Amino acid sequence: MWKFANPIKHQILETRWPAAEEAAGSRLYSPIAIGSLEARSRTWVPAMVPWRATEDGFVTQQNLDWYRRFAEGRPGVLVVEATGVRDIPSGPLLRIGDDRFIDGLRKLVEAVREASEGQTLLFIQIIDFLAVKRRPEKEKYFQRFLQIDEHHRGALADVTNDRLWLSASVALVREFLQNASDEVVTAVLRPRELEALLYGYRECVTDMDLKHIRELPNELPAIFAAAANRAREAGFHGVELHYAHAYTMAGFLSAQNDRADGYGGSRENRVRLPLEVYREVRNRVGNDYVVGVRFLADEVIAGGSRVEDAIYYAKEFAAAGFDFLSLSKGGKFEDAQPPKVGQAVYPYTGQSGYECMPTVLSDETGPFGRTVPLVASIKQAVNGAGFQTPIVATGGISTFEQAEEILRLGQADIVGMARQALADPDWFVKVRLGRGDEVRRCTYTNYCEALDQAHRPVTCKLWDRVSLDEPGITMSDDGRRRLVPPR
Ligand SMILES: Cc1cc2nc3c(=O)[nH]c(=O)nc-3n(C[C@H](O)[C@H](O)[C@H](O)COP(=O)(O)O)c2cc1C
Ligand code: SF4
Repeated sequence: MWKFANPIKHQILETRWPAAEEAAGSRLYSPIAIGSLEARSRTWVPAMVPWRATEDGFVTQQNLDWYRRFAEGRPGVLVVEATGVRDIPSGPLLRIGDDRFIDGLRKLVEAVREASEGQTLLFIQIIDFLAVKRRPEKEKYFQRFLQIDEHHRGALADVTNDRLWLSASVALVREFLQNASDEVVTAVLRPRELEALLYGYRECVTDMDLKHIRELPNELPAIFAAAANRAREAGFHGVELHYAHAYTMAGFLSAQNDRADGYGGSRENRVRLPLEVYREVRNRVGNDYVVGVRFLADEVIAGGSRVEDAIYYAKEFAAAGFDFLSLSKGGKFEDAQPPKVGQAVYPYTGQSGYECMPTVLSDETGPFGRTVPLVASIKQAVNGAGFQTPIVATGGISTFEQAEEILRLGQADIVGMARQALADPDWFVKVRLGRGDEVRRCTYTNYCEALDQAHRPVTCKLWDRVSLDEPGITMSDDGRRRLVPPR
């Protein structure tokens, strides 16, 4: 995990909780229109993958219990985890890439409707991602994966000063490289080959030598549109197109995207496919259905998109007709740390990962609301261009005072809380009823994120200390962690 050179340990914010009357009259608990619908409050639980689906991508009882529990807290909006738009194996992540997934998702919608008594709007985040392989063993990489060609022979001849390498057999080159020093390997492999050795092979939207990558602009609009239509059939109030973090659509928006086919290079070209996907989705689900987007206020990687890019995208998205804009930050593969052999690279281990889910080990700014200034400048630009599209700010927000101040200053229209909602899904109802001092406060130390990284069912470290004698609680397979938040 990436750390600041001289981190400062911050305490969670001291705060004053409102009485019920104050909460009732607050901006946070006032309604807001989102497309054709109205959220009862400006509170929002952003997508969080809990690793509870079946290996085939179906909704499980554990998924139902998870979302029911969040719905009991009655946030204005609850967004279901990143759900794959394609029908391809992707481990215990939800999928919506075929009609056979609709029944399970319908049950999830029903569970949330029942538990929130219809008071929470339920959106689902839909995602496309490219192939990411585990980091290979060195021997396997050189003996099986690396395709030896003239580039390697030439580089070997240069680095060893021995022209005989120019006509060496493939087997000899493989054998030599497998036992060569890191310095020689670095000099001989192409950058992407070295990355595949140290991080595992990973596809990018710029891999134009691969047909299926070239074809993404032709294929993705229909795939997303079909998925969005299934979300509508399953009864979700809306969809959130996942254009953030380390995944396909964020790859198109990235300033690193230099595709030369009209879908990379300039900002206008980088936003082209994201807009084409939106239009196809909109055509399919109709104007009365909520379609929003999550994207990055800043990629936080060298050569990546900055807030000026995000401002441009936000205005384009608002003009196109998106019903909400939800901002995140960072979470990229490009600055991730090398995984251990046999594991997959995790896009939240570099500085961009820190900025996505900041912890209390921080710089002077601290982890609380550090994305808000960027969101505020995006909102100002969107409103200045004549659009009132609701804008969601998330990241280290956990108190009523913080949330109310963000709304009072007009920095955002809606306030998202991911980890704080995980620590205590009842935050929203407790604060509304003047019982804020009963909130189980997130400590922002990312035990939950470590579980996500290990692809294990996500839980919060605070849950295990509470009401362990509660009857009927479901525990993780190792019997050590409860899978549903206590009350
Ligand atoms: C366990 C876990 C899973 C997450 N999964 C997703 C996801 O599926 N999609 C997404 O856009 N963000 C995901 N996030 C990021 C959160 O939505 C949120 O942006 C981030 O945690 C910062 O907000 P917070 O400080 O309120 O936690 C995840 C975060 C956590 C902790
Ligand atoms: S494990 Fe719980 S307390 Fe720790 S960061 Fe995650 S939600 Fe917060």
